Amino acid sequence: MTEYYIGLMTGTSVDALDAVLVQFDSDDTPIIHGTYSIALPEHIQQQVQQLTSSGEGEIALIRQADLDIALISCKAIKALCQQTGISLSTIKAIGSHGQTVRHYPTTKSVKGYSLQLGDPNIIAEMTGITTVADFRRRDIAAGGQGAPLVPAFHRAAFQSKQDDRLIVNLGGIANISYLPKNGEIIGYDTGPANTLMDAWCLKHQHQHFDKDGDWAKTGHCHNELLKTLIKDSYFSSPAPKSTGREYFNLAWLEQHLDQLKTTPSTADIQATLLALTAKTIAQDIDKVDPHKNATIYACGGGSQNKALMEKLADHVAPRDLATTAKIGIEVSWVEATAFAWLAKQTMNRASGNLPSATGAKNDVILGGVYFA
Ligand SMILES: Nc1ncnc2c1ncn2[C@@H]1O[C@H](COP(=O)(O)OP(=O)(O)O)[C@@H](O)[C@H]1O
Ligand SMILES: [Mg+2]
Repeated sequence: MTEYYIGLMTGTSVDALDAVLVQFDSDDTPIIHGTYSIALPEHIQQQVQQLTSSGEGEIALIRQADLDIALISCKAIKALCQQTGISLSTIKAIGSHGQTVRHYPTTKSVKGYSLQLGDPNIIAEMTGITTVADFRRRDIAAGGQGAPLVPAFHRAAFQSKQDDRLIVNLGGIANISYLPKNGEIIGYDTGPANTLMDAWCLKHQHQHFDKDGDWAKTGHCHNELLKTLIKDSYFSSPAPKSTGREYFNLAWLEQHLDQLKTTPSTADIQATLLALTAKTIAQDIDKVDPHKNATIYACGGGSQNKALMEKLADHVAPRDLATTAKIGIEVSWVEATAFAWLAKQTMNRASGNLPSATGAKNDVILGGVYFA
């Protein structure tokens, strides 16, 4: 009997809830039957924005966001089933990532903490489908960062015996998964992909993102600013590592701007942020693939930013830069498919983390299961 799974993802960009309905064949190749994306309404975006740092009334705010994100998740699940004609009762499980509102990676002295909202109790109750959620904290309990979790799925879906591949996910934060044809997988967060560009664009252009990088293209990279940004210790610190909007945000950018002798134009700053994303990713690609053998496959919303993709292609040459569409999954659906796969792993009592990526001591079965 076909086992269908639904994967739900809402990432650090806080732009939309992405949902896929998928089955996996015996070697884990995903067969996607339907996709659905629903823009997060302004009030949820504001709740999440507010919850990214501590403030008064946090618990009340968490309670509301936990409910609102669960309700929008149910809406997406129902729409997806309606659209594909696959009934809710035949779905084996939902893998719901939830919306991260805090991600404190484990450091030498402090155990990490990662909190996602979108109450799985409500999702299971309202849809009648077993729901797997809270994927990150078991990995943290096992000594890992709880992130990135997608490299295990990248390995399952994209690793090839014929060639070295490298997946780069351009979400709010960028993460890479190096998938050599032989040898160990390396995966970690390289730093910001879109989050700083989005925040700067919202502040100065009143747009949630810089479509195709057109605004950035009107400016010039400010070399002094790029140099100071790139000196941040995150970029040179060794993996395993993960990060989020708690670290890379406008306050981080403004601290660096204050150190400059000159004031770049807002467009030049946007161009510099784009350069920072491309440069830091390329730097890490060179670290994990020093012989420049791998083909690079991008996914996530940033792979639709033409200016960013052009700059990244320049930096990673002579390697080819393509998108994951070429190896089976359209760029917008990789992450949601990853959480469907992680739900499948959990339902099969199989591990979902990749210790070489998260730094966990061992493999663990991820998530809590809320049975139908
Ligand atoms: N046409 C485009 N031009 C530039 N950037 C884009 C475009 N489409 C999407 N994006 C970027 O992708 C982001 C969403 O990417 P996504 O993969 O959903 O990230 P996340 O997983 O963090 O939610 C948007 O916030 C925006 O920055
Ligand atoms: Mg998104």
